Amino acid sequence: MTYQNALNNFKMAQHHRKIWGRKIARPLKINQKRLLEEELPSLQLHVDFGKTLNLKELMPGFEGYTLEIGFGGGEHLAWRAQQSPAQAFIGCEPFITGVAGLLGYIEDAELENVRVVIDDARVLLQSLPDAVLDRIFILFPDPWHKKRHHKRRIVSDETIADLSRVLKVGGELVMATDIQDYADWMQDVLSKCPEFLPDQHGRESVYQRPEHWYITRYEQKGINAGRQASYLAYKKQSF
Ligand SMILES: C[S@@+](CC[C@H](N)C(=O)[O-])C[C@H]1O[C@@H](n2cnc3c(N)ncnc32)[C@H](O)[C@@H]1O
Repeated sequence: MTYQNALNNFKMAQHHRKIWGRKIARPLKINQKRLLEEELPSLQLHVDFGKTLNLKELMPGFEGYTLEIGFGGGEHLAWRAQQSPAQAFIGCEPFITGVAGLLGYIEDAELENVRVVIDDARVLLQSLPDAVLDRIFILFPDPWHKKRHHKRRIVSDETIADLSRVLKVGGELVMATDIQDYADWMQDVLSKCPEFLPDQHGRESVYQRPEHWYITRYEQKGINAGRQASYLAYKKQSF
């Protein structure tokens, strides 16, 4: 697939799905285009409505499967993948410049355990089989501040059923945000799901950055601007 095809596919996805926001930050550099043309075809997983994405067939032989939704520039996903080569990592991100960023990390570190989905995470979630994932990261998702845009939030009463379904029992949903209203919203959504138990208890502890954590560009921007982040981790129980 050429870079232009990747872009056209994204535009189609944006039209038919629920993706808002930018797809490219600025014109792609030569190396970003090369990565999209040369590296993407063997690393991209395609999803579509009504089709099951059989991860275990597509990425066989791994000890477990981790998904990052909205990986931005890909630095966190690549860091995790490098730390745990026996685990498979799937990143979902519609932002083409970010995808090129991830491909750069994959190439530099010669990572064999990462695949990428350029699409709306809602379509990916609907495509995944039950109980396939060990962990889902949703770090600093777009907050959609205006009330009339809240329905665009990726953590919502609508998406939580799929987030739960695709996680194994004992699997983890890890979220972070530096928007207080979204942190409250996430806790409210999760409080309605008895199968999810918070890993940390008490309102105060959510402000403590977990150990073994990678600070992404977005998180760093928030820190520089003096924003306080909340870190929310929930374990799925059998229910
Ligand atoms: C604020 S950025 C955070 C990026 C990254 N997680 C970080 O911490 O640096 C939110 C990301 O979510 C992506 N995103 C937005 N809507 C999405 C959707 N429907 N499915 C998957 N990713 C989405 C955006 O393109 C963007 O890269």
